[in-house]
Amino acid sequence: MCGIVGYIGTREKKSLLLHGLKELEYRGYDSAGLAVLEQEELHVFRATGKLKNLEHACKDFVSEGFGVAIGHTRWATHGKPTEINAHPHTATFSSVIHNGIIENYQEIKQNLMDKNVVFCSQTDTEVIVHLFEENLKETSHTLEAFKKTIHSLKGAYAILLITQEAPKGIYYAKQGSPLVIGQGPDGIYFSSSDAPLIGYATHVCYLEDGAIGFMDNDSFSSLSDIKTLNSNRLYAQKEGFRYFMEKEIYEQHKVLLETMMGRMDEEEVYFEEINDDFFTDIQRITICACGTSYHAALSASYLFERIAKIKCNVAIASEWRYKEPIVEHDELFIVVSQSGETADTLEALKNIKTQGLKTLAICNVDNSSIVREADTTLLTRAGIEKGVASTKAFATQMMVLWMLALYIGQKKETISKEESKKERAIMLRAIEAAKVLPQTHEKIRRLSKRYLHGHGFFFIGRDIFYPLALEGALKLKEISYLHAEGYPSGDMKHGPIALADSNLFTIALMPRNLLYDKVKSNVEELAARDATICAISSLELEVADDIIILKEHSSYMEEFFEMMVVLQLFALEVSIRLGNDVDMPRNLAKSVTVE
Ligand code: AGP
Repeated sequence: MCGIVGYIGTREKKSLLLHGLKELEYRGYDSAGLAVLEQEELHVFRATGKLKNLEHACKDFVSEGFGVAIGHTRWATHGKPTEINAHPHTATFSSVIHNGIIENYQEIKQNLMDKNVVFCSQTDTEVIVHLFEENLKETSHTLEAFKKTIHSLKGAYAILLITQEAPKGIYYAKQGSPLVIGQGPDGIYFSSSDAPLIGYATHVCYLEDGAIGFMDNDSFSSLSDIKTLNSNRLYAQKEGFRYFMEKEIYEQHKVLLETMMGRMDEEEVYFEEINDDFFTDIQRITICACGTSYHAALSASYLFERIAKIKCNVAIASEWRYKEPIVEHDELFIVVSQSGETADTLEALKNIKTQGLKTLAICNVDNSSIVREADTTLLTRAGIEKGVASTKAFATQMMVLWMLALYIGQKKETISKEESKKERAIMLRAIEAAKVLPQTHEKIRRLSKRYLHGHGFFFIGRDIFYPLALEGALKLKEISYLHAEGYPSGDMKHGPIALADSNLFTIALMPRNLLYDKVKSNVEELAARDATICAISSLELEVADDIIILKEHSSYMEEFFEMMVVLQLFALEVSIRLGNDVDMPRNLAKSVTVE
């Protein structure tokens, strides 16, 4: 995810910004840039790739005396990771950096182009700085022009803007993306997280949504809710959570909004990345992936068939390669990958391309090998995921796949306008359902102490909750090293039930809105064999030893996203109690680039 830093004061600004950006490197980025405004001159430097390239680009520049400065690391969402698309974006006398997504940028861009404004980049961000300068033609009041600009934007943003028209400070705005302002003995600091401010600022203000203003050396005390800055750097990177995995579980509802942003309106789901005729000749889909990404793919196959009424086959990438699969000319090959570097998935993709199929990647890392290889890509926009056990990557993959199912349904007219509207409303509610509830987390934390022994775990569910059960079992085994398997609950009687006794822990996924009674019968069969049952449901269950109560949702997809969070937290808490390294479990790597 993009990173923002800013500074007002007399310190050497270039090295200060570079230091700040280094502190944000852990968030991932593919280009970087900075702008310094001092003695009325605006100096802008940008480079693709790592920060050392930016350092090289501005090696002969040193800033002296009082000035203002902004710096940015970009994780591409609109437009490729090129130097032209890197921030800051500059118009005639102002520069801007931005995190988030401006949903209505195309409309703004078109209006500005009609007034002969020339754009250089493919980004949504560039509209901000041009619109600001355009608004300044109508008022001499810079803050007014800035506010007017911000009020025209739809979407999520943390924005810093500097301009020769007001060289003593920085304009800022925050909506949906984090932004912190700090004060230290040598000036005022800005950042998208507090890690870069440690050692510089003593006090900070975490801006609330809707914050908008102009900050100079004298305005910090006018901010409300100023706090003393905690000086532990790793703590700051983890934003107060014990583990990156925990932080990533908690931020899922926020990144899901980013996943959705600019891809849905009142009328429909749309993807700028996909040509209008992309699905015209497509009659079937194969999705290929590994691990958690495979579970997202398998879950999505239910949605593709149910919503888009399109035949969908799902394959484990390592199995696909040597199977000599028969493919049809009207088949779309989708690969799903967080890293974009998984060797098995990449090779399956390369292999299928030799057979001339259309390909689509669903990936979190732009410019990764899989993205470069595929015909088209939909980025999941989860931001960098540090925990080896994938959480927010899964959530965002699910959302993109679900939206894609709806998109195909719209194109193929297998879903009515009314149903499509309902589905989009459910999507928004599902994001809300992915928000961690403190009482649920606490309940899982307490409950976890009862699930540290036994000879194994069965995670069971039906329909789309079966792949979610697989994912729950994978999460648990990855970080707790306990034996866990996922099964379709209806399949227990065909063999696995032989393992049932009081030391077999069954985690039962029991959505009230999908096949509840069927799963209940399967759970009762296990309970009759004395298996220990932990049910996850919004309905009470007499035979359950434990129950994790969900909210009363009206659709199964809301239940899906809430249960996903419950399963992730369950694995996390069991692992913590066992004293394991949650973020770096034994024997596993974040990116598996070998066969
Ligand atoms: C998930 O928790 C895993 N660590 C693993 O299964 C992962 O999903 C798999 O290796 C695929 O990775 P990818 O999404 O980067 O392709």
